[in-house]
Amino acid sequence: MSNIELLSLSGLQQEASASRWGGHVHMLTTVGSTQEEAKRLAENGAPEGTTVIAEEQTGGRGRQGKKWHSPFGKGIWMSVVLRPSLPLLSTPQLTLMAGVAVCRAIRRVSGVDVGIKWPNDLLAGDRKICGILLESSCYENELAYCIAGIGISVNLAEEDYPDFLNGVGTSLLIERGGASVDRSVLAGAVLTELDSLYAFYLEHGFSPVARLWEAMSVTLGRQVARNTPQGRMEGLATGLDDNGGLLLMDRSGQIHSVSSGEIELI
Ligand code: BTN
Repeated sequence: MSNIELLSLSGLQQEASASRWGGHVHMLTTVGSTQEEAKRLAENGAPEGTTVIAEEQTGGRGRQGKKWHSPFGKGIWMSVVLRPSLPLLSTPQLTLMAGVAVCRAIRRVSGVDVGIKWPNDLLAGDRKICGILLESSCYENELAYCIAGIGISVNLAEEDYPDFLNGVGTSLLIERGGASVDRSVLAGAVLTELDSLYAFYLEHGFSPVARLWEAMSVTLGRQVARNTPQGRMEGLATGLDDNGGLLLMDRSGQIHSVSSGEIELI
């Protein structure tokens, strides 16, 4: 652990000085999951922008019940409380919005050319570098709050990955040929970009955000597959629908909208 530079609250806040949210950051050493901690704070009335960030998660989780590898001092494991006055159905739009904001922050701070795989995995080449988990709580079909959980593999070396992630996951350090990234600066940049794009989305709606997502996408123009209990569907990814679903054109030219689940780039 001798080479690890610990997270710095002042460093994060300095980078996030343009954001409304830098003053609501809870920086922890070890936590089960920052999602759970942010959820507890949200249930107790924490304001929008409240952020939990930890050096390590012992029970980090990803989409579809998967574990999220979150070793000490190597990544950004953070969760942000959002309180939009929107219907529950807007959650997929918020998911894509968060992907664009994080993609912008990573590109700006690290220079690594990450792209977005639908809905909001960030890839470098074909390897995953960041995952985003949006969890919502609602009241009568209106969102009460959302927790945007962001996991960025920042300074993990190849040997920091468990076997099952070898060749699947990558980090900014690996993509930069061994040059580390200041995690506090990157976390501050994520908050700034998220705050700014979220405000833009609330003011202008989803359509301009969808165009930004499309420009950063590594999914569009590719053949993709989706496995469902009904069978496997393959098609050319052509764009987003108004709700953030992925439009797929099958061999007969028919367009299908995929609204949830995982896709495979083929
Ligand atoms: C995925 O791609 O499956 C989403 C991964 C989300 C991981 C982050 S790390 C911070 C936050 N806390 C968690 O337990 N999960 C999210």
